[in-house]
Amino acid sequence: MARDALIAMTKREIENLEKNRIDLAPDVMKISTSAYSDPERFKLEVDRIFRRVPLALGFSSEFRNPGDYRALTVAGMPVIIVRGADGELRAFVNMCSHRGNFVIEEGSGNTRRFRCNYHAWTYTTEGRLFGVFEESNFGCVNKAELGLTPLPIAERAGLVWVTLNPESTLDIDLFLDGYGEILEHLRIDDAFLADQHCLNGPNWKVAYDGYRDFYHVPILHRQSFGPDGPYQPDFYAWGPHVRVATPKGHDMFKGRPEAEWTNDEMMPGVWTIFPNVSIAGGPGSGYMFSMMFPGKTVGESFTIQNFLRYGKREELNRQDLDNFMGFMRTVVGEEDYKTGFRVQTSLATGAKAFSYFGRNEGGGQLFHKWVDAMINTSDADLPELFRRGVKL
Ligand code: FES
Ligand SMILES: [Fe+2]
Repeated sequence: MARDALIAMTKREIENLEKNRIDLAPDVMKISTSAYSDPERFKLEVDRIFRRVPLALGFSSEFRNPGDYRALTVAGMPVIIVRGADGELRAFVNMCSHRGNFVIEEGSGNTRRFRCNYHAWTYTTEGRLFGVFEESNFGCVNKAELGLTPLPIAERAGLVWVTLNPESTLDIDLFLDGYGEILEHLRIDDAFLADQHCLNGPNWKVAYDGYRDFYHVPILHRQSFGPDGPYQPDFYAWGPHVRVATPKGHDMFKGRPEAEWTNDEMMPGVWTIFPNVSIAGGPGSGYMFSMMFPGKTVGESFTIQNFLRYGKREELNRQDLDNFMGFMRTVVGEEDYKTGFRVQTSLATGAKAFSYFGRNEGGGQLFHKWVDAMINTSDADLPELFRRGVKL
C-alpha cells in the first residue's frame, strides 16, 4: 500500500516536471504576527500541542538492549525513555518520588538502576522504587506506590513516540493517519544515531517554518547550498504531517518501467512530523533528523540535530561526520536561525499585523491551520479533529 502511495507521488512529480508547474494552495494565507510573539498563545501551544500529541523523541536503535536509556526535557517535562530489564520499552517522568529531583542526568547510556543523586533512592529500569536509603530511619512508605510515573509510549517506523500527558485521548495511529507506513520507507530502523548536537533558536514556529520552506533555499542558502537549490515545492499531507518534495530531479524516472523504481529513489525531499520534526537526507545515505522544541519563553526554542548513519558504527568516518555536522550547524545556526532571530525581533514589535504564506507555501499553510485547530480543540474533541482533518 505504502509503495502505491510512493508511486503516486512520484508520478505526480514527473507530471509537474513535464508541465513545468507545482501544486498551489488555493489562496495566499495571512497569519497574525502575534501568533509568534504572544506569551499566552505560546503557553496554549505548549499545553495543547506538545503536551497532547505523541512526540518522536528517540530512535528504536538507541534502545536495543535492556538498560539503554535517553533522558531529556521536553516542553517543561523531564522524560526518561528506557528499555527495562524485562525487555519492554517504557517512558517515565524523570522525577524522584522522594522530593522530585531527576533520577538520572540528561543524556543517554545504559544503566541497571536509576539512582537519585539527592538522597540515593533507587529505581529499576521497569520504574519500580527499588531502594530507600536509610529505610529503617526514614519510616514506613509503600514502595509499590512510589515508582516512577509512566508516560504513554509507542514505536513506529524506527522511532520512539512519547506522549507527555498520561491522560491524552489521542491514539498514535489516529494521529499518524497512515504516515507511519510511509515513514517505514525511510528505513530509519536500519540506521544508527551517529551523533547529535543542540542549537538555540527563535520561537519554535519561526524556526520550524524554515524546514517546510523551499522558497528560501537558493536565496538565503546561496553561499552554502549554491544558487541551484530546489525552490519549487509540492507538498503531500497525512493528517498534520507533511512531505515537501520538488519536481526537480524526477527526470531520473523517465523511460524506466515503474517496477524498477526503487523505494529509496522515491523518497527525496523533506519529511516532517507534526508538530516539530524535520527529516532530510535519504535511505542509505543518512539523515539529519531535527527536533524543534519550545524554549522557556515565546521567543526561544532549541533544536536537537540528530545525525543518523548506515553501516557499522565502528566504520563511521568521524572526520566526514564532523565536517557535515559543522556545515549543518552553520547552515541552520548562521543562516536559518540568525534570520529567524531577526524575524522574531520584528514580529514582536507589532509594526505589522500579519505575515504571509504564499500559494507556493502550502505545507506551511497547513501547519499553521493545524496549530490553530489544535489550540481551539478540547481534550474530548481531539480524536474527532484528527478523524475529520484540516483542509487548506
Ligand atoms: S529527591 Fe530523590 S532521593 Fe531525595
Ligand atoms: Fe533554510
